[in-house]
Amino acid sequence: MISQAENVTLTQVGAGTPMGELMRRYWMPALLSWELAEPDGEPVRVKLLGEELVAFRDTDGRIGLLDEFCPHRLVSLWLGRNEDCGLRCVYHGWKFDVDGQCVDMMNEPEDSDFPSKMTTTSYPTIELGGVIWAYMGPKEHMPPPPKFEWAAVPATHRHVTKNIQECNWLQALEGGIDSAHATILHRTLRVDTPHAGLRVDSPHVQGKPPELEVDITDYGYRYAGIRSLGDEGNHVRAYHFVMPFHQIRASQRGYRGQAGPVGFLASGHMWVPMDDHNVMVWNWDLSYDEPIEEQERVDMDRGYGRGPEHMLTDFRTRVNRDNNWMINRSVQKTETFSGIDGVNAQDVAVQESMGHIVDRSRENLSRTDMAIIYARRQLLQAARSVAEGGTPPGVGDNYYMLRPSQAILPVGVDWRDALWDDLYPDGSQSRNGTK
Ligand code: FES
Ligand SMILES: [Fe+2]
Repeated sequence: MISQAENVTLTQVGAGTPMGELMRRYWMPALLSWELAEPDGEPVRVKLLGEELVAFRDTDGRIGLLDEFCPHRLVSLWLGRNEDCGLRCVYHGWKFDVDGQCVDMMNEPEDSDFPSKMTTTSYPTIELGGVIWAYMGPKEHMPPPPKFEWAAVPATHRHVTKNIQECNWLQALEGGIDSAHATILHRTLRVDTPHAGLRVDSPHVQGKPPELEVDITDYGYRYAGIRSLGDEGNHVRAYHFVMPFHQIRASQRGYRGQAGPVGFLASGHMWVPMDDHNVMVWNWDLSYDEPIEEQERVDMDRGYGRGPEHMLTDFRTRVNRDNNWMINRSVQKTETFSGIDGVNAQDVAVQESMGHIVDRSRENLSRTDMAIIYARRQLLQAARSVAEGGTPPGVGDNYYMLRPSQAILPVGVDWRDALWDDLYPDGSQSRNGTK
């Protein structure tokens, strides 16, 4: 439980709010590269941290991310003409380059110096890993480009998608780092059900609820869900939370030492606030060795409930609040625990069902909510530190090689000892000094 005031701090992301200012200190995913496929192509609306923006790729391939509304009389530049290295407003022809500089005004005399004095808000961007990232903070604090492993590998080895959830960003983040729900919400009730979910006979569904262990780090924290399998040992899933909204986790298929299909050894999310009531959930998968085949991409999207048949235009899911997430009560009785089709849809349903911004002062947290408690604490601390002129954690470039891990370990073996080299294959974190 946190206070109502803390809840407000954590959930509001507009300019000038503590959390909004914290977020503005990081590079944030704004668009998939393919949304701006070609020079002089269609502009795209982007909503980030409560700001309405428009993105375009200019004639030279450079990306502009501008205030959506023309500074003349506030017409949407999304209607604009993307031509000759600039986006031109269709109302009176003011034209802006990718840096937000006005380069022409069709309603002004040719010798006017008004255009050179006119600028509009523009944010720097960088293209990495099939994603266009934006930096919306003070220029003097711009961090180095994000260096996540999934964003550095060839396109053949990663799979990146995004979908909108109609709830505050923190609800979605908390759903993602709450590993305890996975074996409950997502379980199937029969091994032969055609519906997607965690098989009811899988070891971690069969095991007891997990014990969570969390270690604070300089990038956020690492944490493990540990489920006792009795004499067989402990099933351990080890994750990373990277400030302010990244999760790196083992995929269901990524078992250490287990024979079977390779690939998809790491997955993760980024929960990027569009505004206080909507979040863009970014989803990535990374294969360390084999390329990810086209069919695997389709199967994976379908399994998560993000296949083409699950999506509306504009990255909204067909299953949503308006149709009660298409819950099927007879499937709920006999096939799957939730009666909602698709793992992603199940997450969306529970998180949206809380309302746009849940009142966390009314919660009753239990032991398995530990990772959530740590994330809130860290976010509040970081927001406070930025408000006081400090530097937030995780803006450096030392988290390039963070990997998740998953294993069944003998009773009594500390997961840190057993999995350390998996978690930090480049040796970027020292094992000394941790518990
Ligand atoms: S409103 Fe854009 S040029 Fe007038
Ligand atoms: Fe989930």
